[in-house]
Amino acid sequence: MLFINNVAVYNKTVFIRCDFNVPIDQDGQITNDRRLKESLPTIRYAIDEKAKVVLASHLGRPKGRDARLSLRNVSKRLETLLGIDVLLLPDCIGPSVEKAINAMKPGEVVLLENLRFNIGETKNDPAFVKSLSRLADVYINNAFGTSHRLHASIYGMPKTMKVAVAGFLLKKEIGYFKKVLDNPIRPFVSILGGAKMEDKIKAMKNLLKLSDKILIGGKLAFPFIVGIGKKIGLEYSDDIMETVDEILSMLKTTDKKLYLPVDVVSSDDINMPHAIKVVPVEEIPTGWHGVDIGPATVKLFSEAIEDVRTIFWNGPMGIYENDLFSRGTFSLAHHVADSYALTIIGGGDTADAIYRSDEAENMGFISTGGGAALQLISGEPLPGLEVLN
Ligand code: 3PG
Ligand code: MG
Repeated sequence: MLFINNVAVYNKTVFIRCDFNVPIDQDGQITNDRRLKESLPTIRYAIDEKAKVVLASHLGRPKGRDARLSLRNVSKRLETLLGIDVLLLPDCIGPSVEKAINAMKPGEVVLLENLRFNIGETKNDPAFVKSLSRLADVYINNAFGTSHRLHASIYGMPKTMKVAVAGFLLKKEIGYFKKVLDNPIRPFVSILGGAKMEDKIKAMKNLLKLSDKILIGGKLAFPFIVGIGKKIGLEYSDDIMETVDEILSMLKTTDKKLYLPVDVVSSDDINMPHAIKVVPVEEIPTGWHGVDIGPATVKLFSEAIEDVRTIFWNGPMGIYENDLFSRGTFSLAHHVADSYALTIIGGGDTADAIYRSDEAENMGFISTGGGAALQLISGEPLPGLEVLN
C-alpha cells in the first residue's frame, strides 16, 4: 500500500477523506475531538508540503441536509488545533465548491460540508463520484473508521482516481491490528455492545473464530437473549434471528463461551426518564427499555475477563451518554483497565465512553474505528483499503 509521503503533493489539490464523525451533544457541540486530533499528522504533512488541502467527512447519518449535522463546529475546532483558517464550504460538490477550490493557494485548507447531505454518498452514486473526483488531483484515505463502507468518498472516488493512497492514521491503525492479529495472546476475549445491530451481527461469525470468549451488552444483546429462549417481549427480523441462531449453534460445537446480560437497568423513557430500576432481563416492565447492564452483569463480565490476556472491546453497554445510564459501561471500563490483558478499544462511541470513565490512559490501544476495526479483526477486507494504490 502506498502512503501520502510516497506521492507528489506539492502544489496539487489533495482530497483527504477523514472520519470527523465525532460524538456531539444535543446542540451539536463536539464532546470528544479525538478523531480530529488523530487526523492531524496527515493534514499537517499536506500543509507543510504545500498542497491545496481539501478535507471531507460525514457526520452522523442524515437523510439530506440537517443543520445540526453541519461540519461548522468541526471546522472551528480544526482551526484551533491547526492554528490556521479552515474555510467550511457550503456543500461538498458543485460549481461554487469548484470555484472556491480553484482559488486556493498552496498550504491552504478547506473543509467540504457533510458528505452525507448528498444521498449519492452512501449510495456510491456514479454521478456523485464523478463530481467529487473532479475536485482534486490526489486522493488520500485517512478515514480508518469509515473504511468498511462502500460509499462514494471511500470506494467509488479512489477507484476512479489515478492517485489514491493512504494517510498516516490508516498506516498506524492497520499496523497495530496486524501486530495483534498475527500473533494474538490467548485467551482472547471480545466485548461487543452498542446499537448498530446489523453491522455487528454479521462480523460476529468471524470474530467468533478469533475469540475464546464473547461478552455481549448494549442493544446488541437483546436478540441473543431472545435467541436463547428468554421471553423479553422483543421481536427481531428473520434475518437477524437467523444469524443469531447460526452463532448460537456454532458455539455449541466449540468450547468457546458466550456471556449475556443477566440483569439490566430499565427505564420508562429513554430521553425523559421518570422511573429507573434494575431488573433481571426477563422482568423488564412492558413498554420500558433496557438502557444499561445491571450490577450482576458487571460482576459476571468482570469475572469472565479476569484470566484473559487480550481484550477487544467495541460498543458501549448502554446509553452511556446519559449519566443515569452510564454506570454499567463505566464499571466495566474500570475492570478492563485493571486487567492484566492487552486492551484494544474500537470505535468513536466506545473510545468516548472510555475517556469519560477516565481510563483512556490505562488502555493498550484506542482505535478511531468501531465497525471498521471489528471488520478488520474479523478478517474481512475493508473496501476502502482494498481500492487504494
Ligand atoms: C463510525 O462512527 O463508526 C464511522 O464514522 C462510520 O459511521 P457509520 O456507521 O454511520 O457509517
Ligand atoms: Mg460511531
